[in-house]
Amino acid sequence: MSTKVKIENVVKIFGDEPDGEALTLLRAGYSKDVIRESTGHVVGVSNANIDISEGEIFVVMGLSGSGKSTLIRCVNRLHEPTAGRIFVDDTEVTALEPKELQAFRRDSTGMVFQHFALFPHQDVRSNVAFGLKVKGIDVAGRNAAAERALSLVGLSGYESSYPRQLSGGMQQRVGLARALATDPDILLMDEAFSALDPLIRRQMQDELMAIQDQLHKTILFITHDLNEALRVGSRVCIMKDGAIHQIGTPQDILMRPETDYVAEFVQDVDQGRVLAVETVREDAAAVAEDAAVADVLSAIDRLGVDAAHVVDTDGRPLGVVTRESAEQAQSGGTRELRGLVQTVPTITNDTILAKIYQLFGSGLPIAVIDGDGRLTGSVRPLEVLAELGRVESISEELERAKTQGAQK
Ligand SMILES: Nc1ncnc2c1ncn2[C@@H]1O[C@H](COP(=O)(O)OP(=O)(O)OP(=O)(O)O)[C@@H](O)[C@H]1O
Ligand SMILES: [Mg+2]
Repeated sequence: MSTKVKIENVVKIFGDEPDGEALTLLRAGYSKDVIRESTGHVVGVSNANIDISEGEIFVVMGLSGSGKSTLIRCVNRLHEPTAGRIFVDDTEVTALEPKELQAFRRDSTGMVFQHFALFPHQDVRSNVAFGLKVKGIDVAGRNAAAERALSLVGLSGYESSYPRQLSGGMQQRVGLARALATDPDILLMDEAFSALDPLIRRQMQDELMAIQDQLHKTILFITHDLNEALRVGSRVCIMKDGAIHQIGTPQDILMRPETDYVAEFVQDVDQGRVLAVETVREDAAAVAEDAAVADVLSAIDRLGVDAAHVVDTDGRPLGVVTRESAEQAQSGGTRELRGLVQTVPTITNDTILAKIYQLFGSGLPIAVIDGDGRLTGSVRPLEVLAELGRVESISEELERAKTQGAQK
């Protein structure tokens, strides 16, 4: 995938002389706190390097004050970076003259904020068409684009309503429609959903992902909510005190946290809501329905599992035979599988783990199937539960290591 936005060694320091002593201290490795105490300057972003791919939802996550808004605002230079460069495609944004910068903001980016910033005295249509008016597009063109954008966010029919007549969630949709109406390549979303009720917020996340599947924008999405980050992000960047701790896929972040800060963070996540079956799927020991008991046992041994999946001639799962029942059958002199096959549920690769917990009751492996219903793998309940406990134990280990280090 090609890089759409390149953030290169970007620093943002707030204060009277940002590129003076404060920058020197930052380069020398001093912390945000030390720099503030000794120079009175605040480090917003300390040295960011990020490549955002075309078409991804890149999420920046961190607690309040970690530098998320500062970073996103550097991308369209609402904040002027103190050092470093930013590219969008081949354009060096950090080198644009004021007029070019204005055109870049207008044509290439759309911004959505936490607070809807709608014009109260204009109806929904005019609110959404605002950016197009600035672009000099005629009324008919504006209205058509506004209506298209409103239908994308599920608000067709509300064109003539006023913001105050809409719920918070609907107002935020109007904000999103406004950003989409000019058809920008890049969407900059700063805590766009943070003011919404949890339920509405989830709906908006789903809608954003659905819109993204359709439009393939490049989205820089800021949130302080890790669950949201892991849910919507193609990749997630974790920030603290202006510095980037880790950039990775949601699974990387959850399963391979690179710093103790990240590990601590992910402890609180309900991983089952984030991880999909593919992360815990294993190769299945598969046998044909006319196989013999001995075949089952050798397939089971080969993969070191406790049960084999039986498939029909098209490769579709019929059920499982456990090692135990196969061994019993064998010692009883039975060769055929008939009577040993127990049916098990089927799931697909993209099912999230939270949805399959209720299938764990029997303890039997669950069949993973592809779009054609053919067996592609197996999920073992115990392994899944172990995997879910893993991140917690990583951060416990780090915690232990830290206290031991402190005692030395
Ligand atoms: N205009 C400004 N002048 C001085 N300091 C600023 C300015 N804007 C941000 N900062 C400082 O930069 C740091 C990062 O702030 P920023 O707003 O980027 O955080 P954030 O991660 O977006 O937090 P939040 O989740 O609260 O929105 C903070 O220490 C903040 O005090
Ligand atoms: Mg912010």
